[in-house]
Amino acid sequence: MTRRFLGFSPVFASWHSRAANGTFLFGSRGGPLICPMYWHMTKPSDFTEALTSPSVARNRDPILSVLRRVLPPTGQVLEIASGTGEHAVHFAAALPHLTWQPTDRDEQALRSIAAHREASGLPNLLAPRVLDAAAAEWPLEWADAIVAINMVHISPWRVTQGLMAGAGLILPPGGVLFLYGAYKENGAHTASSNEAFDLDLRRRNPEWGVRDLESVVDLAREHGLDHVERLQMPSNNLSLVFRRSG
Ligand SMILES: C[S@@+](CC[C@H](N)C(=O)[O-])C[C@H]1O[C@@H](n2cnc3c(N)ncnc32)[C@H](O)[C@@H]1O
Repeated sequence: MTRRFLGFSPVFASWHSRAANGTFLFGSRGGPLICPMYWHMTKPSDFTEALTSPSVARNRDPILSVLRRVLPPTGQVLEIASGTGEHAVHFAAALPHLTWQPTDRDEQALRSIAAHREASGLPNLLAPRVLDAAAAEWPLEWADAIVAINMVHISPWRVTQGLMAGAGLILPPGGVLFLYGAYKENGAHTASSNEAFDLDLRRRNPEWGVRDLESVVDLAREHGLDHVERLQMPSNNLSLVFRRSG
């Protein structure tokens, strides 16, 4: 069963996922809201803030295997749209020579990231910062690499425009922008589950939707970012690697 992670609802205060057959899975049906290990690792007040996305456990290792290869050996990685903060913990733990800066624009996500970070005790995982990728100004002036997982299709196009503009400004020559998610290619969906996912996204918000890979690549180029790699990932997702031109 392919599930796609849509985001979290302030109403349910939970992360949602969707089965390939279109069933929406909320809260406990979609997996535990909060990782059981934090019962033992965090204070009760932190525990209530730490959200869990079922999709992270499935995609974090395939993504990590790409990041190990494409990220620089040292330096600061800016993660945009960190969500629950589980990716940040997993990647910072596996890549201790990098400093990981998680961000999100959502308050609830920021609290979850902070709770996971505190539980992890990782010295190279920085406190989360507010960052709206669509904003004209970002709170960071530089990053050696940027990672954005599952944001481009779950936000309006102007957010991807802001992401590319910001990445073009703060990455050094050769710096990597890594994107992960579902994309159309040559104007068509690459799988029926992606097509159904796209319909679900657009029903939830007409400004969301699975993007054309070619449009993202063209936009990146306008901001000095060359598309250098496309990797097929599990569940009909792609990893896309861009490099800031010199
Ligand atoms: C589907 S979740 C993905 C979270 C995480 N990257 C993951 O894969 O589990 C989408 C995330 O994008 C964030 N987001 C949406 N619009 C954003 C924006 N304009 N700037 C930064 N983050 C944004 C949401 O707050 C949410 O955390």
